Amino acid sequence: MKQVKIFLFGIGGYGSFYVNALSDWKDKDVVIEGICELMPGMEERFPIIRERQIPIYKSPEEFYAQHQADLAIISTPIHLHHPHVKACIAHSNVLVEKPVCAVLSEAEDMLRWEQETGHFVAVGYQLNYDRNLNALKRDILSGKLGKPVCMKALQAFKRGYNYYHRNNWAGKRIVDGCPVNDSPVNNSSAHQFQNMLFLLGDAMDRAAEVKAVEAELYRAGSYVENFDTAALKVTTAEDVPVYYYTTHNMEADQWGPMSEFCFENAVVYLGKDYGQGPLMDYVAEWKDGTVHDYGPVPTAWSMQKLEDAIECARNGGHPVCTVQAAMSHLRTVLWLSEMPVYPVSEEALILEEKNGDTFYRIRDLENIFSRCYEEKSLPGGRIPVEE
Ligand SMILES: NC(=O)c1ccc[n+]([C@@H]2O[C@H](COP(=O)([O-])OP(=O)(O)OC[C@H]3O[C@@H](n4cnc5c(N)ncnc54)[C@H](O)[C@@H]3O)[C@@H](O)[C@H]2O)c1
Repeated sequence: MKQVKIFLFGIGGYGSFYVNALSDWKDKDVVIEGICELMPGMEERFPIIRERQIPIYKSPEEFYAQHQADLAIISTPIHLHHPHVKACIAHSNVLVEKPVCAVLSEAEDMLRWEQETGHFVAVGYQLNYDRNLNALKRDILSGKLGKPVCMKALQAFKRGYNYYHRNNWAGKRIVDGCPVNDSPVNNSSAHQFQNMLFLLGDAMDRAAEVKAVEAELYRAGSYVENFDTAALKVTTAEDVPVYYYTTHNMEADQWGPMSEFCFENAVVYLGKDYGQGPLMDYVAEWKDGTVHDYGPVPTAWSMQKLEDAIECARNGGHPVCTVQAAMSHLRTVLWLSEMPVYPVSEEALILEEKNGDTFYRIRDLENIFSRCYEEKSLPGGRIPVEE
């Protein structure tokens, strides 16, 4: 089997998942050829670096001056994806973490570079690579569920001071003069929103185009420049309404994911309670009584994307989450960046100290969002904001 050499670019944050996955990789013909990371202490954190004498560089140029790699995996901050893909694509295929980048013209550049170099750029939305969700998408494309009517999802993680202070870009709109538009929609809870656009795409490797975005964006955390709570209604080019709810400002550590995808002939549920609490499987219920369980929702550490990128780097082909498939999400984020962000009024906020962290909660948000999710509506005045 052809050996696949991997260049890991950014390993101190989410990139650590790739180091850990590759440390235990079964296929011994996959090697980490080198790493680019600015943060010190990586040798202590990842024993594999010393064990396999993996060199660490401060720039991709230094790495490529001495090495060749079949696949570069980029897990650096969002606003650096464009220059970092540019630095790698002439030499290697690229798996870049989601979101693809911060500006539309940057994504267009990536499409052009793919043509010019013959290398692929794949984007790291792990749900898009999941074989169960691929099976659901195949059934949607074949018409088995009928035409899509309406989609909705909710996914939220509690995030506080520590999350927003782990780097210089969390929660920012602009960093070092570059747009980053970091938010739960663009970053921490991006997956379930992307999943809906991807499932509605007209081919396995495409997402639905978005033609309109309505949204209500709220800022609760005093350290957040962008927004940390959002309710969206997005309309696809095929006129399918897609509702999405997300927040960092609730009581529980995690809420959801849950979703309900309505088609002419069937509804697909995630998180439906069949009597033993929410079932974290995608289950389709057809009007004629047929039920099919498509399997569990993938986790953040699901590494099918890495497997697929290695397979395509070795044998050709393009991993399923293309730049095009990530662009509707990016367009939505750019739409949101033009919209007002409402500061939540002080009376509606609860400041919570927990586990060495500080959180801002929005009073009654769980009830407000549950009702919105049920009704397929935006909060419209139910969250009190500063005058
Ligand atoms: N797929 C997922 O589920 C998932 C989850 C979390 C984050 N992400 C994505 O991963 C990416 C990184 O997010 P994060 O939270 O880990 O960010 P982070 O800022 O916490 O970590 C980024 C890492 O990149 C390094 N880095 C920054 N600039 C660099 C440079 N010029 N050269 C070398 N290294 C550099 C930093 O030192 C750090 O180790 C983002 O695109 C994010 O959206 C994906």
